Amino acid sequence: MLNLLRDDQDWVEHVIAKLTAKMDAVSERSSTKIPYTTKNGYHDNQIETDINWWTNGFWGGMMWLMYHETGVPKYKEIATFTEDALDLCFHQFYGLHHDVGFMWLPTSVANYKVTGNSESRKRAMHAANLLAGRFNLAGGFIRAWNDDTANEDTRGWAIVDCMMNLPLLYWASKETKDPRFAQIAMKHVDTALEAFIRPDGSVNHIVEFDPFHGGVVRTYGGQGYEEGSSWTRGQTWALYGFMMSYMHTGKPEYLQAAKRVAHYFMANIPDNGVIPIDFRQPKEPCYEDTTAAAIAACGLIEISKAVGEYEKDVYLNTALKLLKTIDTLRCDWSTEADHLLINGSAAYHHQDIHISIIYGDYYFMEAIFKLKGNDLFLW
Ligand code: GLY
Repeated sequence: MLNLLRDDQDWVEHVIAKLTAKMDAVSERSSTKIPYTTKNGYHDNQIETDINWWTNGFWGGMMWLMYHETGVPKYKEIATFTEDALDLCFHQFYGLHHDVGFMWLPTSVANYKVTGNSESRKRAMHAANLLAGRFNLAGGFIRAWNDDTANEDTRGWAIVDCMMNLPLLYWASKETKDPRFAQIAMKHVDTALEAFIRPDGSVNHIVEFDPFHGGVVRTYGGQGYEEGSSWTRGQTWALYGFMMSYMHTGKPEYLQAAKRVAHYFMANIPDNGVIPIDFRQPKEPCYEDTTAAAIAACGLIEISKAVGEYEKDVYLNTALKLLKTIDTLRCDWSTEADHLLINGSAAYHHQDIHISIIYGDYYFMEAIFKLKGNDLFLW
């Protein structure tokens, strides 16, 4: 249980009122879209550009969260529209990757949990089987992507982000009473414990394993500044990802891992509460990533709920600091703009720096509803 101070409860209620007003307007404009970012304040539409894109579940997820909060039918209708649109990915098959958890947990699993829709259950089982099929037995890891250029060989590549896809496997095991899916998830977590978390609690983004014999070949900087640096969103995928594996399995070593990553993350938060793209990036340019702050807040709130009285406040108060910073400095609360968070960044070496990104909005909303205490947990 979270014990929020009266002032913090009032702040949460105030933010929810702003979210409700904003989403009422934005959902009207984006009712037939799957957005990734905004252009001139309006959502783009991944249905027209890249239906396999890994973020395509988040808008549906936001709609389910809003439906759970308000009971307004249009949110359920929009969420269902996005879920239907994703069926094309199954038909195409090529182009899918390990991020099927990000895509079908907030859409099909959510729909099934809320309404019992049997078509949604079937879609989610398809996605779970695709994810399980990416497991490399020799290395004990789930392969991230398929090669998309002739020069790349990613057969041995796993990325820390995958920790967030594993709840799809836990769900499938629970749903079918077949332990295979959860066994694969736990093998991946055990490998990640060894290969991704560094002694100081920071994490690698990409680890390359020998796909035939197992064992680490090398690491890559991935979306961070460079090899050995500390891409902040990767830290938060690990923080929240290990925590969710703990929530699904009860294994104390997974909670310990989440706490280790959290301690590293908290120790590196700048005084102003604004999270950089990479904790080890140069001082200038001063790039930031609000998505990392929102994801971290979600994970920290869950850790706070899982630990004892004497330590829970440090996690909760850090989450509150991150969220209040976003609310006051990095949110566009106008109902004219489709995005909520500004200054999200795709990667350090990428043109998409300081843009709006849909999962920033999603995780901010999830964190706020967690603080309210009646959240719809989609993972
Ligand atoms: N999963 C890719 C990213 O976090 O950008």
